[in-house]
Amino acid sequence: MFAITASTTDPNDPLAGLTLGERPEPKAPDGRADDWADNWAVVNVKAAALNHHDLWTLKGVGISQDRLPIILGCDAAGVDENGNEVIVHAVVGTPVNGDETLDPKRSLLSEVYDGTFAERVIVPRRNLVPKPAGLSFEHAACLPTAWLTAYRMLFEKSGLEPGSTVLVQGAGGGVATALIALGRAAGYRVWATSRSKDKRARALELGADRVFESGARLPERVDAVMETVGQATWAHSLKSLRPGGRVVVSGATSGAVPPADLNRVFFLQLSVVGSTMGTREQLERLARFLEQTGVRPVVDRTLPLDRATEGFAAMHEGDVFGKIVFTV
Ligand SMILES: NC(=O)c1ccc[n+]([C@@H]2O[C@H](COP(=O)([O-])OP(=O)(O)OC[C@H]3O[C@@H](n4cnc5c(N)ncnc54)[C@H](OP(=O)(O)O)[C@@H]3O)[C@@H](O)[C@H]2O)c1
Repeated sequence: MFAITASTTDPNDPLAGLTLGERPEPKAPDGRADDWADNWAVVNVKAAALNHHDLWTLKGVGISQDRLPIILGCDAAGVDENGNEVIVHAVVGTPVNGDETLDPKRSLLSEVYDGTFAERVIVPRRNLVPKPAGLSFEHAACLPTAWLTAYRMLFEKSGLEPGSTVLVQGAGGGVATALIALGRAAGYRVWATSRSKDKRARALELGADRVFESGARLPERVDAVMETVGQATWAHSLKSLRPGGRVVVSGATSGAVPPADLNRVFFLQLSVVGSTMGTREQLERLARFLEQTGVRPVVDRTLPLDRATEGFAAMHEGDVFGKIVFTV
């Protein structure tokens, strides 16, 4: 079957390791004792979405060399062997207190098991979530990583009630556009920053209440900041919080070790909360949220899978607003 594979990794030239071509049909992994391991399902992929995670893999971050070559892609929507339209949950693990993201052995598709940038992908059957009929395959494919991460950040980790003010850093990103759209639909006052004038204008169209240049002083301090940019925006995130405010962090695209500014953290009693992906049940609720509200993921561009290199290049250059989707 046709697939997009990471063959090698290079932190300086990630696209050099991208291979397009034939790969063997998927097979269930042998010898796993977990209760889900003998219960795998093959999904015929209709659409798959690109995440920054795929670029990190090509840079050698979060992947061990002995896993290569591995098919890339965390996100997909498609049709299972029984003809059901499904969304594929990307977290492979055994739930701990109902949450598979807390399993120390959990992985995302394309880290240990082959990913979704292929004609077919095999996943534990519990990772299949019914796709609402009103959601296209292209939109459904955007949900499992970026949109699920945004859902958990906003609705579980921020601790905020609707009507609160939330700042989203780096408005153009996949997670950031999801945060703006979900926040708006749920009644938060959403402020956003971006380095680009054009992306700031698009963030307003998407539902941001106000937009600011990255690093700009805000008219008032916010209740929470949603952070995926990391080092480049971290100082601004802490400065933008009201006393007792909270920064929820799920990514660090620009670097992961900014000055911590501990004086500010304890003196203003700020909270720093980490967030990663979400549970299968949250993915189901997210799909229902979209069905109920009419909110749909922002798709920057849709490309056939055999032109995936163009999508990777655009994300590498930061030339993206929303999600890049591949159709199969
Ligand atoms: N923990 C998890 O479960 C999880 C899940 C999903 C994503 N993530 C992580 O979250 C991050 C974002 O993911 P994504 O898929 O949304 O990526 P993306 O679509 O590539 O987002 C990139 C955005 O980050 C902003 N940005 C990048 N470098 C910047 C810099 N130097 N200064 C200011 N802004 C910068 C840009 O915003 P502007 O151009 O608008 O300024 C850009 O639009 C990644 O690091 C990813 O690995 C983590």
